[in-house]
Amino acid sequence: MPQEPDRSPDPFGWIEEQRERRSRAGLVRTLRPRPADSPLLDLAGNDYLGLARHPVTVAAAREAVHRWGTGATGSRLVTGSTELHAELEAELADFCGFEAALVFSSGYTANLAAVTALTGRDALVVSDAANHASLIDGCRLARARTAVVPHADPGAVGRALDGFDGRALAVTDAVFSVDGDAAPLPGLAAVCRAHGAALLVDDAHGLGVLGDGGRGAPYAAGLSGAPDVVATVTLSKSLGSQGGAVLGPAGVIDHLVNTARSFVFDTGLAPAAAGAALAALRLLRAEPGRAARVREAAGRLYGRLTAAGLEATRPDAAVVSVRAPSPEAAVRWAADCRAAGLAVGCFRPPSVPDGVSRLRLTARADLSVTELDAAAATVARTAPAV
Ligand SMILES: Cc1ncc(COP(=O)(O)O)c(C=O)c1O
Repeated sequence: MPQEPDRSPDPFGWIEEQRERRSRAGLVRTLRPRPADSPLLDLAGNDYLGLARHPVTVAAAREAVHRWGTGATGSRLVTGSTELHAELEAELADFCGFEAALVFSSGYTANLAAVTALTGRDALVVSDAANHASLIDGCRLARARTAVVPHADPGAVGRALDGFDGRALAVTDAVFSVDGDAAPLPGLAAVCRAHGAALLVDDAHGLGVLGDGGRGAPYAAGLSGAPDVVATVTLSKSLGSQGGAVLGPAGVIDHLVNTARSFVFDTGLAPAAAGAALAALRLLRAEPGRAARVREAAGRLYGRLTAAGLEATRPDAAVVSVRAPSPEAAVRWAADCRAAGLAVGCFRPPSVPDGVSRLRLTARADLSVTELDAAAATVARTAPAV
């Protein structure tokens, strides 16, 4: 008997349709593995302080591997908590001015943990419209009522909280990752206090950059250590390593240990990453000028770009964002920069909910004025005509 041709529909046919739609809209993303000895000047990564390849952090990672092994071997509550993790947590909390800290395998899982464990089905979460995806996903997982409020608007947060007398949490990035502007933390804290709500600040882009010696945005705003404020950080940006942490009152941290699913059901942070982050933190303490240098570098980039007639956002920390006329133009612009020896970030929808594509330049404390000026000149020279 001849075989019947297989007429079953391709269960993944929709993927190709989606890919074509992305392609038509200029929104295809591809991986570009970078060689270890890339000649590009890197203003696309988040190694703000130049610590990812610093001899001290590299040596600390190597030593941690020798001492503790290549992996944490288990979840934090089983075998994945080493003395190194405890040391990192104690020093991180102390540096940033919080009572306690809990280290996670990423900033993403730290945000999921903080939002879900501090809310719940009957809670209200008030979330800034420009918050990072990890906070948004935390809101989704929490299954709480979420009110998305206009960007950087304490009044809007207050209106969302008005009349709600249950468990409430306002969540905000400290420095917004696309435009690099800072959240109005004092105003947000005041509004939260007036409504009996807690405030969660994602300081991924503030740690190492803002506050005295890089102690972060909550520290700069006088909010670190407050009983109603919790912060999250990543170890993967200014500390040049990998991992994340939640910082807050000891009771909150203990609650996370017991209830946060992205903590309980996740393997502990690899010892090499914990060792490197701890060494980076100690470098930051020993050389507090690094934080000011990265802020100056961002200011210089901004000054050069705007002097060249480009529309850039004034940086509150290390991120400088430059508007592009379209997603396609942004991709071409980033490619032209790359061809000229400069790596820059390219943000297109859906990473930018307002639909405005941008190039993103991250300033670095370890670049010279000549390198910064050359980078700005490359961006200006390759800019699309508008
Ligand atoms: C604002 C913000 N929060 C959280 C994260 C997530 O941190 P991680 O990359 O360590 O998961 C990032 C980084 O991409 C971020 O920019």
